[in-house]
Amino acid sequence: MSVARRRAPFSIDTVVSLLTRTVGTSAFSTALSIFLYLRAYQLEEKPRKLLTALSRFLTLRRIHQVLTRLVVNNGWFKADKPRWDSEVCVVTGGGGAIGSEIVVELLKRSKKVAVFDLVTPKHQHSGARYYEVDVTDPESVKRAADQVRADLGKATIIINNAGILHARKLLETTPENCLLQYKVNVIGCLNLVKEFLPHLISLNHGHVVTVASSAAYLTIPQLGAYSASKAAALTLHESLGQELAHRYHAPRVRTSVICPTKVAGNLGDALSAPPNSFLSPVLEPWQVAVKVAACLDSGLSQHVTMPFFASVILPSLRAMPEYLRSLVIVSGKQNDSITDERSAKAWSERIRPEGGSNEF
Ligand SMILES: NC(=O)c1ccc[n+]([C@@H]2O[C@H](COP(=O)([O-])OP(=O)(O)OC[C@H]3O[C@@H](n4cnc5c(N)ncnc54)[C@H](O)[C@@H]3O)[C@@H](O)[C@H]2O)c1
Repeated sequence: MSVARRRAPFSIDTVVSLLTRTVGTSAFSTALSIFLYLRAYQLEEKPRKLLTALSRFLTLRRIHQVLTRLVVNNGWFKADKPRWDSEVCVVTGGGGAIGSEIVVELLKRSKKVAVFDLVTPKHQHSGARYYEVDVTDPESVKRAADQVRADLGKATIIINNAGILHARKLLETTPENCLLQYKVNVIGCLNLVKEFLPHLISLNHGHVVTVASSAAYLTIPQLGAYSASKAAALTLHESLGQELAHRYHAPRVRTSVICPTKVAGNLGDALSAPPNSFLSPVLEPWQVAVKVAACLDSGLSQHVTMPFFASVILPSLRAMPEYLRSLVIVSGKQNDSITDERSAKAWSERIRPEGGSNEF
């Protein structure tokens, strides 16, 4: 993997990442509070007010982070880090753009990586084991899971990444078409959870990651069926966390969800790039993979929306007035993001679960 390929284009995310690693640290915040306590009287009024406001903002941000960490980790505040020498990882859709990069990240950490995909990809990462699985079919998932248990051991890290997007206008969306997206994007996650969760519960350890989408929060024309499925995948993830805490009493089993906007690659090609690449850059698949790996490394459940711009706006949009939602869509030219031609091209170039028809 070349270094150049790993450099994200300069965007607001670069700036935020720099600020998070400097001004956003607890050390900076503590130092600022102590400084203001001891030396505030020496400052002019303007800088004093500015630094005080910054200090308050950082304190509030810290409180928000602590509360979020406590709640999403089912009250189990302490990180439960992976023991990479013994973790067995399963990635669905590991032959695709994002999944393949997730496999790369996992192989840096673990020798036991199983890839579930409809077809074995031409380019395989050495060290990973590939299994032909249709995630929509519980029998297919069970067969592969049994094989993984025999080959590598019982899985403890599950990455639900397989997904399809069939972007059509609603009047052209057939029930079968809608159902297919639901089956891959939602039932696929459920099938994996049903197969592997009991072992994680018995250990009170492990991590289930769901690769959902920013479409779970905000839909645009021709993305209705996909958005509905991704909203369902997000809800399924939330329900999983709740049940681990309140039904299965396994609070240390971690659950994370990743909601990216457009990612470069075939599936993402159904959408045009947002006009402002500084505010809303097109993500590279490896950036999503690095986030997934960071969630796993942290040993904490996380809710990630990326890039930064999306993380600030999208999750809260549901609670905002309709005109703000509309403003985000229209100002970002997202109402024209999908066209029939673009969508048909992206679909025809992809592998479909039925394994055949090019029909759009
Ligand atoms: N690309 C984007 O812009 C974007 C944005 C947000 C979220 N996502 C989500 O990220 C995930 C990965 O997307 P991607 O861009 O890598 O897409 P991709 O098409 O490159 O990869 C998807 C993979 O899933 C596999 N798959 C499809 N149906 C399957 C099935 N029934 N059983 C097993 N495997 C199956 C495909 O063979 C493919 O390898 C998807 O869940 C997608 O919805 C993608």
